Formats: sequence, structure tokens, C-alpha cells
Amino acid sequence: MLDQFNVPLERLSLAVSDYANISLFMARIDQIHPLASGNKLYKLLPNIEFAQKQGIQQLLSFGGAFSNHIHALALYAQSEKMRSIGMIRGEAAYANNPTLRIAKQAGMTLVFMDRVHYRQRHDQQFLARLQQRYPQTLIIPEGGSNALARQGCRILAQQINQTCWQQEGMTPDVITVACGTGTTFVGLVEGAASMQRVRAYLVVKDASVYQTVNLLLVGQQGVARYQMDAADFGGYAKLDATLISFILQFLEQTDILLDPIYTSKMCQRVIQQIDQGMFSRGSSVVMVHSGGLQAWYGMKKRVVQTAGEAAWGKIKDYL
Ligand SMILES: Cc1ncc(COP(=O)(O)O)c(C=O)c1O
Repeated sequence: MLDQFNVPLERLSLAVSDYANISLFMARIDQIHPLASGNKLYKLLPNIEFAQKQGIQQLLSFGGAFSNHIHALALYAQSEKMRSIGMIRGEAAYANNPTLRIAKQAGMTLVFMDRVHYRQRHDQQFLARLQQRYPQTLIIPEGGSNALARQGCRILAQQINQTCWQQEGMTPDVITVACGTGTTFVGLVEGAASMQRVRAYLVVKDASVYQTVNLLLVGQQGVARYQMDAADFGGYAKLDATLISFILQFLEQTDILLDPIYTSKMCQRVIQQIDQGMFSRGSSVVMVHSGGLQAWYGMKKRVVQTAGEAAWGKIKDYL
């Protein structure tokens, strides 16, 4: 399924990158698919393909009430005429938020779990019981973080390189990506060439992700060099006036809307690092826009309160 996609690439001209002599690009995987785009495509489609090959018609996964992953899973399942179940952290009152309303409209069955029960989502005994309760169902971990998803993200690295070669006649020195569970990042490292560097920007305050990533990558031969940096800017999904103003400024300069949780924080940190001279002069850098724009619908109130109606108006025009 992923073979059919082409990664759109845009060259960015920002004062900071021009001054630092960096060729800066954005891989617009947020634009590939009409239903739900971004890294979800590369993580979930291999899972859907696997389920279909096994004759499995139902998908189940876990997520928070504003989860990009749950939103995408519901829409992809619907388009493939499969059933989907979302195990949602929190109370049933969340069912009316924009993310879950769309998931429900797409036919997803929502099951709400309190935080204590939700903590069991990685527990093998709990998962075995869940599998008994939902037979003939592919259970996909929270965030879609499994080996099939990593495989999809390897293809993403190859497609980024392919477009860079076709369009710009070069292989980028560095690929940067936002990191939650680390799955997309690990897949990119595995799929990139050994002379490239992949840099992850961790938007969650969770040091265990460094360990998870290292366990998967240490000792692998022939993969790209890699590096991880913190980019939570005060905590996961924390959207303050500084971040909103960065997003609006980036929008004005590039005509590209970033999402409020992942790519915006990655970009903000990359641009700071370019400014601090942390990327070699003359190098080429591709930032991955991993999608997630649907999250804006849940942020309207916060944007209006923090930055005013006009700020929301500018964002809404791009959704
Ligand atoms: C829009 C977006 N970008 C990046 C990520 C991070 O991906 P990963 O969990 O594979 O590190 C996510 C979460 O899945 C996401 O929704």
C-alpha cells in the first residue's frame, strides 16, 4: 500500500537557515493522504495490510482523548471496510470532542478506561484477556508502536531520499523528526543510508523513550547515525503563547501550518539549533512534517484565550 505514495518536498527559505548556509527542506507527508496523513500512514497501513492478509477484519488500539493515532485508525479502518475499537484513556464525556466525534462517525467503537486500568495497556496478561474478548482482532499498541509500523517508516526514509534525489539531485545529510514513542524515528534510522544522520526531537517528558530507542538500534549494522534531543518545551501538548507565535510566524514565512504538539516543537528546536551553529555549514536538512493537524480542533479555546480570535482565524484557514 505504501509503494503508491510520493513524498512532497518543499525548500524553505528562512533567514536563519540562509545565514547559516543550510539547505533546509520540509517533507510534506502531512499532505499525502486525504483522510488522515503524516506518519500515521506509514505506521498504520502496514498493520492494516497484515490484518487483511490474515483475514482479520477488526482493529483495536489505545489512545488519549485527542489522539492522532485513534483518529487515523478509525478513518483508515472505515475506508478499508474494517471494524475498529478505540480503548480511550479517560471518561465517556470526551466522546464529544472533535477527535473522538470523527472517530465515532467513522464507525469506531469507543471504550473508555480510567487511568488505573489504562496503565495495563502493555501488560501481557491484560492483552491476552483482551484478545479473548475480541477474537479475530489485531491489537495494535498505543501510538501504533510496533515492528510493522517501524517497517513502514523505513519505507518513509527511502521515499524521502528518493524525492530528494529526483528533485534536488542530493541525498540529505540530516533528517529530523518529532518523537513520541520513538517508532517513527527508529524506522527512519533503519531506512536511511549509513552516511546520513537522523535526529529525533522528543516532545514527551519521558526519559524511558531514550532507552527504548537504544534497545532497538544498538548493534544494528549499516543504519544511519542518530541523535535524540528533548523538545517538550514544558510538557507534552503544552501550547503556550511562545509556541503559538512561533507557529504563526512559520506559517507566514512558509505558508505551512505545523501541528500544535509534534512538528511545531521539532521545528522550533531545529531552528534554535541552526541559529546556535549546531548544524554544519553547507549541509542539507530535511524536517519531516508528520501531520497531526486534526489536533488543532481540540485547541481552539486555548488559542483564542492565549492569542486571540485573529490567531485562530489564521490557523483555521489552513485546516
Ligand atoms: C503528528 C505526529 N507526529 C509525530 C509523532 C511521533 O511518532 P512516534 O510515536 O512514532 O515517535 C506522532 C505520534 O504518533 C504524531 O501523532
